[in-house]
Amino acid sequence: MKNIKAIIFDAYGTLFDVNSAAEKCKDKIGDKWEGFANFWRTTQLEYTWLRSLMKRHKDFWQITEESLDKSIKTYKIDPSMKNDLLDLYKALSPYEEVQDVLKKLKEKNFKLAILSNGTPSLLDELVKSNNLENLFDDLFSIEQVGIYKPNSKVYDMPIKKYQIQKNDVAFLSANTWDVSGGGNYGYNSIWVNRNNNIFDNLDFIPKHEIKTLRDLLDIL
Ligand code: LAC
Repeated sequence: MKNIKAIIFDAYGTLFDVNSAAEKCKDKIGDKWEGFANFWRTTQLEYTWLRSLMKRHKDFWQITEESLDKSIKTYKIDPSMKNDLLDLYKALSPYEEVQDVLKKLKEKNFKLAILSNGTPSLLDELVKSNNLENLFDDLFSIEQVGIYKPNSKVYDMPIKKYQIQKNDVAFLSANTWDVSGGGNYGYNSIWVNRNNNIFDNLDFIPKHEIKTLRDLLDIL
């Protein structure tokens, strides 16, 4: 890919492992921890889409808690674990390659930013707790536009701030629907397919499909 000026990353699932909160509690939760973690994540995302369509916005932290409440009941998890799970969600672990790849990209002078459903304080805490705060130029939160991905107002934010074209952006997400959202908007959308998943049928084919963020260094 030529002439990329900004590299924009989704946060949850792309830089940070959303399953790591439940995984850290797997001794208490038992074998169902992974099903529970996936259900929590899916419910959380459904709530973002539904609230955007209903025009009943609540921020990502409230949605994370409300989707957790449903998941705890559905999977019959001990409700006293709720606060531990929420605390762990605030300090999710990054994937192992993240820091090294970001450092290499920064040396090449790309603009680097996060564009996420997360609230400004959640994103701030995530990057600080993982010592990544000096690597990003911006942490763009959907709270600035009050509607969730994949609304185009979200993808507009970096374009407006950096005064660049959609085609100047490489957008990285592990979430297939977010790759389609960014791609249909006009970004060069790249799918980080960590788990050999199948892509969506939403009229967009990713510009590139990579296995981890490390592969990004070969295609820029
Ligand atoms: C985010 C979710 C979609 O960070 O992963 O925006």
